[in-house]
Amino acid sequence: KTDELLKIMQGQPVIPVLKIDRLADAVPLVRALARGGLPAVEITLRTPVALDAIRAVAADVPEAIVGAGTILNPDQFEEAVSAGARFIVSPGTTPSLIDAVASSPVPLLPGAITPGELMAAAERGYSLLKFFPAEQAGGAAFLKSLASPFAGIRFCPTGGIGAGNAADYLSLPNVICVGGSWVAPDGLVAAGKWDEIEALAAAAAKLQR
Ligand code: 3PG
Repeated sequence: KTDELLKIMQGQPVIPVLKIDRLADAVPLVRALARGGLPAVEITLRTPVALDAIRAVAADVPEAIVGAGTILNPDQFEEAVSAGARFIVSPGTTPSLIDAVASSPVPLLPGAITPGELMAAAERGYSLLKFFPAEQAGGAAFLKSLASPFAGIRFCPTGGIGAGNAADYLSLPNVICVGGSWVAPDGLVAAGKWDEIEALAAAAAKLQR
């Protein structure tokens, strides 16, 4: 499971974080991101159509690797997996979530920020973590200072990351990839500007790590 997740995270420098308002946007949006070089995407469970969007992408976009995000409890984990999510992202880590996912073949990327949270997640076998909300929690400087004491833990930071600061994170030894919504701005999605989104994805896909 960890290998599977690591492969997804190493596959591209940026994982798009998507909030789908209109179900019909999901498939063309994810196709455009995949064309641009970002086939793995996280669809957040923040809108009523999110699970249907995951189902649609899983069924109709074979070139994509669809994940589910903003998973807060075991029920949401199960719903997302049933919808076809191939990886699951949570902003935090709770004992009940960790217990519930132990028997699932689908990998979880749980969130942690503080040293105590990192140690608790590591105790449960998690060495790949989300760091959210990255900018607000202390940004690249904070994350950098975790690298030496927690040498075995690597992150996907998200929250407030964009084209202007992604490189600051990607240059850190403990960052594998970053996540963010900047490659799928609401305005472009609403207007169906898939070519422009493909171009944003292509620029993000070229970021060096
Ligand atoms: C997430 O859930 O990872 C964040 O909401 C993404 O943050 P962003 O919208 O600031 O990129």
